[in-house]
Amino acid sequence: MKINILFVLSLLVIASCNKVPPANQINYKEQHRPQFHFSPEKGWMNDPNGLVYFKNTYHLFYQYFPDSTVWGPMHWGHAVSKDLVHWKHLPIALYPDSLGYIFSGSVVADKNNASGFQNGNDGPLVAIFTYHDMKKEKVGRIDRESQAIAYSNDEGNSWTKYTGNPVIKNKGDQDFRDPKVFWHEASSRWIMPLAVHDHLEIYSSPNLISWVKESEFGSADGAHGGAWECPDLFPLKTNEGIEKWVLIQNIDRGSISGGSGTQYFVGDFNGKTFVNENSPKTILWIDYGADNYAGVTWFGIPDSRRIFIGWMSNWDDYATRVPTKNWRSAMTIPRELGLIKTDEGLRITQRPIKELAQLWEKKIDISAQAFKDSLVIPNQSIQKEIELQFDLSQSTASTFGVIIGNKIKEKVIIGYDKAKHEVFIDRTKSGKIDFSKKFARKHTAPYRAANLLKLHLFIDAASVELFVDEGQIVMTEIFFPNEDFSNLTLFSSGGSSSLLKGELYELKSIWAMQNQGTN
Ligand code: FRU
Repeated sequence: MKINILFVLSLLVIASCNKVPPANQINYKEQHRPQFHFSPEKGWMNDPNGLVYFKNTYHLFYQYFPDSTVWGPMHWGHAVSKDLVHWKHLPIALYPDSLGYIFSGSVVADKNNASGFQNGNDGPLVAIFTYHDMKKEKVGRIDRESQAIAYSNDEGNSWTKYTGNPVIKNKGDQDFRDPKVFWHEASSRWIMPLAVHDHLEIYSSPNLISWVKESEFGSADGAHGGAWECPDLFPLKTNEGIEKWVLIQNIDRGSISGGSGTQYFVGDFNGKTFVNENSPKTILWIDYGADNYAGVTWFGIPDSRRIFIGWMSNWDDYATRVPTKNWRSAMTIPRELGLIKTDEGLRITQRPIKELAQLWEKKIDISAQAFKDSLVIPNQSIQKEIELQFDLSQSTASTFGVIIGNKIKEKVIIGYDKAKHEVFIDRTKSGKIDFSKKFARKHTAPYRAANLLKLHLFIDAASVELFVDEGQIVMTEIFFPNEDFSNLTLFSSGGSSSLLKGELYELKSIWAMQNQGTN
């Protein structure tokens, strides 16, 4: 995100008009409130931070401004979950202080107490984050970001900031942020990927306190339409057992669907340097929709599961304006990452985590059939999961897919265009669109389907996530209808479509407890 003084001043003015209500007036039933995605009770949220699995609990920290529904002095909000589906809100973990706002970062479980912060039976949790110093920014200094740490000896309930902060000082770099630390077994050291304006820097440390710069990557690789932010670096295996390192690199502008988005690289990491195995010109995107940003993965999940979550919005001019009242933004559903061989090389796949199946409330089978024009699927729930399998060899349609809509003719169209070989989501008529000129758009993803095409959709009150052919292509988009989208129609234009299999699951809300006021 680009931050300058005018921007901050205008945010403060907007903030005064975006005061949030007291928490006891919030029941998770407001218009546009996501029912199975994480959203804060009130206030502004952006990036997921500090994703860590510790003592059978998943922690989700996040960029948070509790006092307004627009970005402002950043805190770390905190929530925990036993299943990555239901979340319990906890008190704010980190507050801004005289060194600055608390920007994005990570948390690790320091099980051998390398940091020396342990006080009790278990190694501490250590948070590594960026301080953004507004005093320096106000006087025009660019060396305003530095890296700092805090620790917790009570499973993340309370945090102590390290007295020797910052642990990495700024030597004159604008945009110097978002440390995503992990333990590198082969070299027995902590490794910190850090985004520095147009490239990645890699630091190492024996104790999370003293850090040495090892290498730089990327000023000539991948997409550079904006600042690099929020990196992540981890190994991933194909089903055939090929292991590669994946570098996730968020970029605040110039992504495939406009604005902020998430690119990634595949290659090798030897404890010091990341080497991209594709040509520097290759650009790979995690998501072809407009609304999946700042995504990173959990530290410490067993069984080599690599689980990713992103912020479901876009900095490119509408994140702070979307028409929700008490809160702004939600996270994506958590997704399990995989790696597959394709003709072009190794590529990431994303699948919705299997834990989401516990939300299935009612299953509706859609019988196998050939259909033309439209096929209405009666259902009762706003939030749902849909799996559709089409046989393209038996289809003459030029485009086909799903329309979610309401009786006042607002709709979102999700489909495949056979002639153009692309998947698309069209939200041009999705309801409230006037809050930004950049919102009402149709986004596409290039994809050459084989004879069988699988569309797997997760639809909530204000979002759709589309997983194509086991997550080879993913699109995430938000929308804001004036009346909820309760209608569901399959469409087939320019000929017939052959549906081989169709399943719809109405989904339970994860916020039932909040709705009863018990939390
Ligand atoms: C990404 C980002 C990060 C920064 C944080 C500030 O969305 O701009 O680079 O740490 O948000 O809230």
